[in-house]
Amino acid sequence: MRTDTGQVFRLEDYRPSDYHIPLTDLTFRLSPDSTRVISELTIERRDGISGTPPLVLDGDGLVLKRVELDGKALAPSAYEATPESLVIANPPAGKRFRLLIETEIAPSQNQALMGLYRSNGVYCTQCEAEGFRRITYFLDRPDILSVYTVRIEAKRDEAPLLLANGNPGERGDLGDGRHFAVWHDPFPKPSYLFALVAGDLGLVSDSFVTASGREVALAIYVEHGKERLATYAMDSLKRSMRWDEEVFGREYDLDVFNIVAVSDFNMGAMENKGLNVFNDKYVLADEETATDADFANIEAIIAHEYFHNWTGNRITCRDWFQLCLKEGLTVFRDHEFSADQRSRAVKRIAEVRTLRAHQFPEDQGPLAHPVRPRRYREINNFYTATVYEKGSEVVRMIRTILGADMFRKGMDLYFERHDGDAATIEDFLQVFEDASGRDLSQFALWYHQAGTPNVTVAASHNAASNEFTLEIEQSVPPTPSESRKRLMHIPLAFGLVGQDGKDIAYAAVDGASVEDGVIHLRKRRHVVTFSGVAERPAISLNRGFSAPITLSIEQKPEDLMFLARHDGDAFSRWQAFNTLLTDALIAATRNVLGGKKPAFAKELVELAGIIAGDETLEHAFRALAISLPGEADIARDIGANIDPDAIHAAREALVGAIAETNQSHFKALYEKLGASGSFSPDATSAGRRALRNVLLDYLSILPHGEMLAADHFSAATNMTDRAAALMVLAHRHPKSAEAVNALAAFEEKYRSDALVMDKWFQIQAAMPGQDAVDLVRRLTAHPAFSMANPNRVRSLIGTFASANQTGFHRADGTGYKFFVETVLAVEKRNPQVAARLATALRSWRSLEPGRQAKAREALLAISAAENLSADLRDIVERTLA
Ligand code: PHE
Ligand code: ZN
Repeated sequence: MRTDTGQVFRLEDYRPSDYHIPLTDLTFRLSPDSTRVISELTIERRDGISGTPPLVLDGDGLVLKRVELDGKALAPSAYEATPESLVIANPPAGKRFRLLIETEIAPSQNQALMGLYRSNGVYCTQCEAEGFRRITYFLDRPDILSVYTVRIEAKRDEAPLLLANGNPGERGDLGDGRHFAVWHDPFPKPSYLFALVAGDLGLVSDSFVTASGREVALAIYVEHGKERLATYAMDSLKRSMRWDEEVFGREYDLDVFNIVAVSDFNMGAMENKGLNVFNDKYVLADEETATDADFANIEAIIAHEYFHNWTGNRITCRDWFQLCLKEGLTVFRDHEFSADQRSRAVKRIAEVRTLRAHQFPEDQGPLAHPVRPRRYREINNFYTATVYEKGSEVVRMIRTILGADMFRKGMDLYFERHDGDAATIEDFLQVFEDASGRDLSQFALWYHQAGTPNVTVAASHNAASNEFTLEIEQSVPPTPSESRKRLMHIPLAFGLVGQDGKDIAYAAVDGASVEDGVIHLRKRRHVVTFSGVAERPAISLNRGFSAPITLSIEQKPEDLMFLARHDGDAFSRWQAFNTLLTDALIAATRNVLGGKKPAFAKELVELAGIIAGDETLEHAFRALAISLPGEADIARDIGANIDPDAIHAAREALVGAIAETNQSHFKALYEKLGASGSFSPDATSAGRRALRNVLLDYLSILPHGEMLAADHFSAATNMTDRAAALMVLAHRHPKSAEAVNALAAFEEKYRSDALVMDKWFQIQAAMPGQDAVDLVRRLTAHPAFSMANPNRVRSLIGTFASANQTGFHRADGTGYKFFVETVLAVEKRNPQVAARLATALRSWRSLEPGRQAKAREALLAISAAENLSADLRDIVERTLA
C-alpha cells in the first residue's frame, strides 16, 4: 500500500516528458507468487531536449531483478532503484536506446486489485490510473504512447487462455506443461490501457461485420458454466458497435474484441484496448438472477467501454486532469445510446435523478471540484460523479448550444484532428469553436469552475401590454478554494405553456438571446420580455434538464399541477410533479419536527392516482413519476439541520396518504398489470414491471400489505419482481413472519450465487431504523460476505452508509462507529475501495448538530489511524476541511 506523501499534483505544473517510449515489448512468466516481467523498452529523447537529462521511471512496490542498457548489464552505480522509481542518471547520448528491465511481482498477494492480480484463479490486470507501475518501471503517464507487443507464458492447465491487447500472434508449447501466446497492438497507447488476462474461462463467441465490411471476432470470457449468462452482454455489444457507426461514424479497428468478466474488481469495467475487463456484475444476467436495472446497466456499461475505443483510446488524455475528456464524453455517448435503445424521456429522467443524487451533493459539499480539476493528491479519488456525470452534462450543453448538426461536425473534426493524440479539454472545445464559429470561452467555465449554479426566476404577466416577463438571476455558490465565481453561460430550455397545453407563440423577445426554445443566460441578471402574449402562460423551465443547475422559482401549485399533466416536454412533466411532491415532503418534515401530523393536499394525492392510471403515458414514465423522492433527495433539498428520522416519517406518511386515497384504483391497476408472463428484458416490459412494483410498494403500506407482498414474492418468476417484493417486506414489515420467511427463502435459494446474494445484503443494509447497524454488523460474519471483495463490501457496507439514512445516521452515532471500523478494515486490503466508502460522510455538515458532532468524531477517528493510505487520507482531510 502506498502511504501518503502529501504531494499535491497541479495542472499548471504539466511538462511534456523528456523521453518517449515508442516501443514496449513485455514478457510475462506467470506464477501466482512470483511472476517475472521482462520489459524491453525502446526509448527516445524528445526533440528539442538538450543534453541527457536523467530518465526517471515510475514504480510502485517493485522489486528490480535485472537492468540492461543496449544489451549490456548496467553497472549498479549507473542507476538507482527503489520500489517507487528507477532512475538512470546519465542515459546514452544517442537519440534512441534500448532498456531492459526485469521485475518480480506476486499477483496472488495483490489485494488492492491494481496492477497484476488474481481473481478466482484468473490473472488479470488493472492499470488505470497508475497501476502499470505496479507491474514494471515505466513512464506511467497517459501522454506516453507506445506500441506494445506482449508475450505471456504460463502453465497450460492453470491458464489455457492467454489474452492481451490488440491482435493475436504466435502461440505454442514451451514443454514441461507451459505454453505461450504473443499479442500485438498496432495502435500506440498509454500504459493505463495495457491489459493481460490468463486463466481457465468459458467462451461466448460471435462476430460483427463493420460498415466497411471487415469482420471482427467478438468474445466474452466468463467463469465456466456461466456462458449462457453473457447473452445479453453480447447482444448489447453488437448493438453498441452498430450504433457508434451510425451515430458517430466510428468503426472498430482491430480484428478481435475481447471482454473478460472477473469477480474482484474495484470499479464497473475498464476499456483496455481490445480487451475490456469487466466486473462480472455488469456482464452476467438472466431473468432468474438479474433485475431490469441490472440489464439496463449491462447495456450501458458494455456500450460505455466499447465507446471508449474512440473517446479515450484512439484519442486519450494528455494528463489525469483531463480525465473528463474521455469520461464525460463517453458517458454522454452511452446516455445517448441508451436513450436510442429505450425511451428517451424515461432515460433522461433517470439520468437527472442520478445526477442530483450523486453529483449535486458532491458539488455542494467539501469534495466539490471542477469537472476538470486543477489539483489532486490521489487521482483515484477523482473518478467522481462530477467528472463523469456533470462532465456528460457539459457535453450535452455543447450540443444544445450548437445544435445536433453542428455538434456532429465538431465531433468529426475532433476525431480527424486528434486521432492518435493525448489531448486536452482546450483541444476539445476548440473543435466546436472551429466547426461552428461560436465563441465558447464563457461556456468553458463549466469545466473550470466547481459548484452547482443556482438560477432564480420571477415571472409576471401584464395583460394590458400582452407582455410576459422573466426576471432571471444566476449565482454560483462558493466551493472549497474557489470563493469568487465568474458568470456562466447557461442554456435554459423553456416553453410558455398555454391553457390548451400547447406552447404559446410569442411575437418578439428581448433581454437575452433566445434560440430554438433556449434562453442563453450570460449575465448575472436578465429581464427577458416576451411580447404578444395575451394569456398568462404556465412557465416550463430547464426543459429536458438543459443545464445542470438548481432552479428557484415561485410557482403556483395549480401551475405545477397543470404542467405535470400537460407540459409538452416529458421531462418537465415529471419535474413538475416531482417538485410538488418535494415541496409537500419538506412541509411534512417540518410538521413532524414540530410534533404535528403531516397533512397533504387532496389534489396532490389524487394526481398521483391520475398519473398512475394515464394510459396515454408509458408505464416506465408513470412508475418514475409516482415514485417519491428518496430520503436522501429530501435531505438534500432541505439542505441544513437534517434529521433523517423526521424525513423518514414524513415520507412514509405521504406513501400512506397516496395509498389510502387511491387504494381501489391502485389495486385494480396492480391486478390489471398482472404477473409478467414470459420474460423479456426490453424497456417496455421492464416499464410494466416497474409500475406494478411501485404500486406494490404503495399497497404494502395498507392493512395486510405484508400478505400482498408475500404473494408477490412467491409468485415472482423473475428477479425484478422477487427483489422488489423482498425489499417491500424487509423495509416496511421487517418484523413480520412474511419478511423473515422471504429473507430465509431467498438466502436458501441463492446462497451460492454471489451476485444475487449482493441483493440480499443490499436489501437488508437499507432496512430503515435503529436495528440496521446491528444487523449489518452481524451480516459481515455471513459466509457469503467477504471484506476482500469490492462487490460484497459495496453491497453491504456501501449501501448501509450511503442508502440508509435512518440506520447509518442513527442519533447515538453507533452507525458511524461501525463505519469507522469497517472503512479501516477494508483499507488494509484495498485503499481505493475504502476511500470511496468514506465519501458517504461528505454531507456531514448538513446534519442536525448532534449527529454532526458524532460524524465529525468519526472522520477524526479515521484521520487519526496510523499509516493511512494516500487515498483515504485525501478524502477524510478534504471532508473535514
Ligand atoms: N475507465 C473506467 C471507465 O470509466 C473506469 C475505471 C477507472 C476502471 C479506474 C478502473 C479503474 O470505464
Ligand atoms: Zn469510462
